[in-house]
Amino acid sequence: MTFFPTVRLRRLRRSPALRALVRETRLSPDRFVTGFFVKHGRGVREEISSLPGVFRFSPDEAVAEAQELESLGVLAAILFGIPDRKDDTGSEAWNDEAAVQETVRRLKKEVPGMLVVTDVCLDEYTSHGHCGVIRDGEVDNDATLPLLAKAAVSQARAGSDVVAPSDMMDGRVAAIRRALDENGFDQIAILSYSAKSASAFYGPFREAADSAPKFGDRRGYQMDAANRREAMREIEMDLREGADVVMVKPALSYLDVIREARARFDAPIAAYNVSGEYAMVKAAAAKGWIDEKRIVLEILTSIVRAGADFILTYHAKDAARWLKDGIA
Ligand code: PBG
Repeated sequence: MTFFPTVRLRRLRRSPALRALVRETRLSPDRFVTGFFVKHGRGVREEISSLPGVFRFSPDEAVAEAQELESLGVLAAILFGIPDRKDDTGSEAWNDEAAVQETVRRLKKEVPGMLVVTDVCLDEYTSHGHCGVIRDGEVDNDATLPLLAKAAVSQARAGSDVVAPSDMMDGRVAAIRRALDENGFDQIAILSYSAKSASAFYGPFREAADSAPKFGDRRGYQMDAANRREAMREIEMDLREGADVVMVKPALSYLDVIREARARFDAPIAAYNVSGEYAMVKAAAAKGWIDEKRIVLEILTSIVRAGADFILTYHAKDAARWLKDGIA
């Protein structure tokens, strides 16, 4: 039988070269999707106070940032819009001249190697801050679907490669798939925020996008954080409706959900390392309490080890640099 002292697991930990040979999980910059907040203007690069190192960009600055990221090997960005005006239905979401659509056009033209993903949701665009239209004090599921579909089609028309619905309405993947196909966009993929929890970890994002709900909260449509089985039902439903990639969000407190999704489904799985997760690391690092590089790479490794194929993360640029420098 193979027991100690015949077996000594420390034998394979004795040198960097040996550890590298038996390493099971590897990070690389092409597994990262960076997040861009975009608004109209020129030369705009406003740092978000609760997300140090993350900016609101005008389209030209988004292009410059994308070029830098591409040179570091980060080949995908997801765009969120900061509109000039908001209304009850979030109509700026499907305005072909909105900041997101304009940025998509510029990125596809000026940084053709960069994959452009667009977040499909209404919360950044509605005056009340909810992810759908309000009827009788509630977010109306079915009335929201055609609006999401219009937003996705407008993004596809601008040149988006992948649309990513984050609203958590039932049936939105099917509605978006149908609308894309009817408009000649059958090659545009859907990355669905399938298992998205009603989470306190989105706080800094809502500051960045000024998208906190003006009344109530999102618990009537985003998932209860306590439910893993329900997360599997969400993923299954989205795959049946035609999602090409499913996502678990947030990532770090939900590694078990990623793990179980990996075991059950063969579709690609994304994980969203969200704003609050990033902000906690940055705050502790700024105080000198943690080693930022090592913590970030350990967090990202854990998300891949749990089973994610790729990660949406605000650490993308830093992590890509550190990987390049060989700090792993
Ligand atoms: C909705 C959306 C949110 C995030 C991504 N898309 C906010 C929300 O649901 O309240 C959060 C991402 C993050 O916290 O980094 N458009």
